[in-house]
Amino acid sequence: KKTVRDIDVRGKKVLVRCDFNVPQDKEGNITDDRRIVAALPTIKYLLENGAKVILMSHLGRPKEGYEEKYSVKPVAKRLSELLGFEVKLAEDKEVVGENAVRLVSEMKEGEVVLLENVRFIKTETKNDMDFAKKLASLADIFVNDAFGTAHRAHSSTAGVAEFLPAVAGFLIEKEIEIMGKALENPERPFVAILGGAKVSDKINVINNLIEKVDRLIIGGGMAYTFLKAQGFEIGKSLLEEDKIDYAKEMLKKAEEKGVKVYLPVDHVVAKEFSNDAEAMTVDVEIPADYMGLDIGPKTVKLFEEAVLDAKTVIWNGPMGVFEMPKFAVGTKAVAEALSKVNGTTIIGGGDSAAAVEQLGYAEKMTHISTGGGASLEFLEGKVLPGIAALNDK
Ligand code: 3PG
Repeated sequence: KKTVRDIDVRGKKVLVRCDFNVPQDKEGNITDDRRIVAALPTIKYLLENGAKVILMSHLGRPKEGYEEKYSVKPVAKRLSELLGFEVKLAEDKEVVGENAVRLVSEMKEGEVVLLENVRFIKTETKNDMDFAKKLASLADIFVNDAFGTAHRAHSSTAGVAEFLPAVAGFLIEKEIEIMGKALENPERPFVAILGGAKVSDKINVINNLIEKVDRLIIGGGMAYTFLKAQGFEIGKSLLEEDKIDYAKEMLKKAEEKGVKVYLPVDHVVAKEFSNDAEAMTVDVEIPADYMGLDIGPKTVKLFEEAVLDAKTVIWNGPMGVFEMPKFAVGTKAVAEALSKVNGTTIIGGGDSAAAVEQLGYAEKMTHISTGGGASLEFLEGKVLPGIAALNDK
């Protein structure tokens, strides 16, 4: 794929789709600006090369068109702080309105304008071509750098590329380079660690990764369905009955492919799904009125040993109920184990990324993906529509 490096941007109006869908607290303060920071290399490159930069993003999932609480105003503020000059917000409820048109026409090289939340247009998520055309009318070139939204075929991610020369930004380039290499040509041993509550969210990922990895570690809520498939008692733990057969099939496939699968051998359990519940550690079988909420210490040790000599590791999904401190121990231990790996370490997904950040291990990882759903779909081996739409002109 071509990137901004391959085209001449001097004096051009460049419309850049970013993923500024960042978490906010009740007062609207941004609580994690990782996605904004990750967009800076492309923005700075365009500015240094004499482009006029028009940015756009979605924020949250507004259902009814314009709603003030979904405004990208906090993003404009944070971007201004990070860039050290004012990023002007085009405050149009219809996104491409008179403010946007005026601000863009007044722009000079090296300036930045941010459009309002593209999801204020209800048909944006339907890849409406009228809206895509309106967005395109503001600019000479389209750059997609929204890796986190690349799995969506929307007007601002895919449609707009029909009307302008379209290339990728540096964030998209970096995400697909690092994760693509891991999938296509990994240094071995290659280990995948999958967690999270549901097997059903990870079906295609497991299926695809079994073809590629040497070892597959499964923790978190989804592990119980696998343990059940192996005939263990799992008490009141999370179970997806209708996925037991799938779990059996995957265990069989792993065996055929020579992939070693690691499942929990002990658990931290409680009677209630609550941080206040009394917790205890049990071996692999879980008593009838208990539920597993985290991996136990023996499992931590087992998983640590399984990643220690890895040359490539991909991790997606927590090992327990990470949002409850009492059951976050396993997830934190895995984050720590990865920080010691002497190889490529790739973190995808919200909770695993949060664990790594909170513990201060971010610098120790090769790559923390800015994509949740997008990185999962990439690991499933799917073509992401926001990337496929780029015409490389
Ligand atoms: C994300 O947070 O995963 C992306 O920004 C996509 O958001 P969406 O799931 O609302 O499309």
